[in-house]
Amino acid sequence: MDFVYDLVVVSHLLGMAAVVGGYVAAQPRVSELMVWGARAQLLTGIILVGMAESIDSLGKDPNMSKVIAKLVVAVLVAGFAEMGRADAKRGKAVPWMTHAAGGLAILNVFIAALWN
Ligand code: HEM
Repeated sequence: MDFVYDLVVVSHLLGMAAVVGGYVAAQPRVSELMVWGARAQLLTGIILVGMAESIDSLGKDPNMSKVIAKLVVAVLVAGFAEMGRADAKRGKAVPWMTHAAGGLAILNVFIAALWN
């Protein structure tokens, strides 16, 4: 089961690369890559917490304050990315929405790495 958990961690890191990389490459527009990255972060993050909480042999004990903070930030990232992408498809760029999604995604990287 450790291997499966580690594969989900790999997906989580690739999702992070997609949302941050998609932001940097396409701003001030929201790219399709960024939206899929934001969706992937929510899905893989929730799977990681679910596995860590339910499988004792993994030996994980996630910090729930940190998880909730990341979840709130990730929901905002996904919301801004979805709205920004819908506008981009109609030929309208809303830069503040793109920067809010990208900036909050980067904030979540800081929370992930620095909150111990
Ligand atoms: C934009 C959204 C997100 C970004 C950019 C992000 C980024 C990251 C990064 C960079 C790591 C690796 C940190 C390290 O190993 O030191 C990580 C780990 C983790 N993230 Fe996220 N994350 C996001 C959303 C979420 C969400 C929504 C959840 C859960 C609800 C979550 C749960 C976790 C967990 C449990 C780990 C630890 C994995 C492990 O090493 O065992 N993340 N995240």
